[in-house]
Amino acid sequence: MSDERSPYPPTALVTGAAAGMGAAFARALAREGYRLILVDRDGERLRVTADTLPADCETVTADLTAEADLARVEERCREGVHLLVNNAGFGHPTGFITTPVAAEIAMSRVHVEAVLRLTLAALPSMIERRRGGVINTASALGFFPSSTYSATKAWVINFSRSAAVKVRADGVAVTVLCPGFTRTEFHDSAGMDMSKIPRFLWLEADAVVATALRDWRRRRAVSVPGWQNQVIVALARLLPMRLIDRIIAGAGKRPLAVRGETAD
Ligand SMILES: NC(=O)c1ccc[n+]([C@@H]2O[C@H](COP(=O)([O-])OP(=O)(O)OC[C@H]3O[C@@H](n4cnc5c(N)ncnc54)[C@H](OP(=O)(O)O)[C@@H]3O)[C@@H](O)[C@H]2O)c1
Repeated sequence: MSDERSPYPPTALVTGAAAGMGAAFARALAREGYRLILVDRDGERLRVTADTLPADCETVTADLTAEADLARVEERCREGVHLLVNNAGFGHPTGFITTPVAAEIAMSRVHVEAVLRLTLAALPSMIERRRGGVINTASALGFFPSSTYSATKAWVINFSRSAAVKVRADGVAVTVLCPGFTRTEFHDSAGMDMSKIPRFLWLEADAVVATALRDWRRRRAVSVPGWQNQVIVALARLLPMRLIDRIIAGAGKRPLAVRGETAD
């Protein structure tokens, strides 16, 4: 979905662009000739990422849990971008019974409020030009009742599918990316020990992003990278809810070893 009708390069705004999948989105879009607006809370790291890219990059240091910062990024989206990638996100080291409520609210601000506000700010100019779109990063966990994290990602999946249905006729594509285990800083940042996760379940960030961009161009509402994750998501859709609840309850007794806490 390149901007053939414009003499200017298309612009993509990527949140959480200093690391992991956000940086992989930035690399892929730079190669495709996009002009980039890269958003992350660590400005120094963001500039280092931007300096490595063969693209015209603007960096925006913003913590999406902070109202003034979110409003600034929202304004940037309202000015018009061709592609918005809502990718920033994080997990908690402990289950929600023991996580401070302020940390839960911060997670829902980044995973829910920021995704909502940036998408709503970006869509009108896309609809007016009848091109462009949004990729929202959720998670394969969003198909399971496993945690506040999975609950926020379930919201991202439902909201993105709703937006995709609404704007499809306007020539705008919305895709929700639902990755499984992906090699990034995500689990280290959350203090999770992932050593027990089988190797075959892991994907590389660049491969996940290539699938997301391919599916977005094909105007697919849901992108699940890798056969492993496709099987997992298919099971979530096909198995009875009570069985899934039992599996999740069993997995909770064998948590991803988060420093002695259960990963609810
Ligand atoms: N990796 C996986 O296995 C996996 C699986 C499914 C879904 N996901 C989702 O994929 C997305 C990207 O995660 P990743 O795996 O690439 O993780 P990552 O390597 O930790 O990168 C996430 C980036 O988002 C930034 N970020 C976090 N909170 C922010 C905030 N409040 N404001 C601005 N930037 C913020 C992080 O900055 P800091 O480093 O400063 O925190 C980091 O640069 C997330 O939405 C995550 O939930 C990941």
